[in-house]
Amino acid sequence: MDIPASLVPSFQQIFEHSPALVARAPGRVNLLGEHVDYNQGIVLPAAINRAVYLAASPTSDGLLTLHALDLNEHITVRLDQLEKPQPGEVRSPGWAAYPCGVAWALQQAGLAVTGMEVVYTSDVPIGSGLSSSAAVEVAFAAAWRALGGWQMDNLQLARLCQKAENQYVGVASGLMDQFASACGVQGHALLFDTRSLEWRPLELPAGTAIVVADSGMRRTLAGSAYNDRRAACEKAVALLSVYKPGLQSLRDISAVEFAAYSVMLPDEVRRRAEHVVKEILRVEQAEQALATGNIQSFGGMMFACHKSLRDLYEVSIPELDALVEIARHLPGIYGARLTGAGFGGCTVNLIDASQAEAFIQGLQAGYEQHTGRQARVYLCQASSGVETESRRA
Ligand code: GLA
Repeated sequence: MDIPASLVPSFQQIFEHSPALVARAPGRVNLLGEHVDYNQGIVLPAAINRAVYLAASPTSDGLLTLHALDLNEHITVRLDQLEKPQPGEVRSPGWAAYPCGVAWALQQAGLAVTGMEVVYTSDVPIGSGLSSSAAVEVAFAAAWRALGGWQMDNLQLARLCQKAENQYVGVASGLMDQFASACGVQGHALLFDTRSLEWRPLELPAGTAIVVADSGMRRTLAGSAYNDRRAACEKAVALLSVYKPGLQSLRDISAVEFAAYSVMLPDEVRRRAEHVVKEILRVEQAEQALATGNIQSFGGMMFACHKSLRDLYEVSIPELDALVEIARHLPGIYGARLTGAGFGGCTVNLIDASQAEAFIQGLQAGYEQHTGRQARVYLCQASSGVETESRRA
């Protein structure tokens, strides 16, 4: 496993011995299927070659000792005193909530979580829609799994990390991010049915590349706005179940049924639900487009997704809209849209790999001209999911 050169020396410096293991858990982009995972829809993310890396050793003192290298912050927590925060309670420092939440979720599953010393670092930009927090969760869960010798597959591991995020951190997220970080496959996107939990890798078309453009706008209030969107979807299900008894989720309502019943919904709830119903349909069509090599059509769906997130789901911001509009006119573009929860962060662009240089230059120049801001733009590879490697004989 390739790990940052600073990681193990830092560990040795702090703890005066070698780590027992190193772990890597990637961030992700989502190509299509946005805000559908908590509506039991199908998503199409890919793990990327930006990741959280940690070095860890077990301890017998029942303590979790954390060194966040990027923040230069350190904390020690007693693992026998982890409790789910009360509603509205914010634990500080916020960054420690992710590893602590994972330990708590593993304990809730009846697993004996060992004390651990950990040094970690990440090159997934924080708060940018690339799942930096899911990557932290998955890296820690994998470290504990390896130290505990537990039989637990990556999907189960992802589900426990989602529990940490939902119940300990307090964001009612779906399973997509933790799943992608845990189950990524090199060179592939992951077609993941969040209802049946079945998934399969889809090879990305030859000659295409994924470009991520960071608007530099960080999410604010993302947690509460995200939870609001989820609540609107639940309200839509409750109201629509009057017409379709037994309705469990927006996954179960067809576009035709939605057209017939949605006039009964309050305007805002209707727009949120319309995005979800049509986005679920788009992913089904996108699978076909990829299978038949129709990249233009797939790209068109990415643009349509962005429009829907902007106008119906209302999770875009002007800077993300600008990045998408600039990309639309650049050489090599197939499709562009905001990726992740929105409210700031990044766009994902699917492009002709041979035009990558001109595309990236054009996007950076156009963004600066339009907004006066600098965009960081990354040419990404779809990468494999979490891995751990023992460092001791
Ligand atoms: C965040 C959540 C995911 C998903 C996306 C939106 O990244 O963690 O579960 O809901 O937003 O698609």
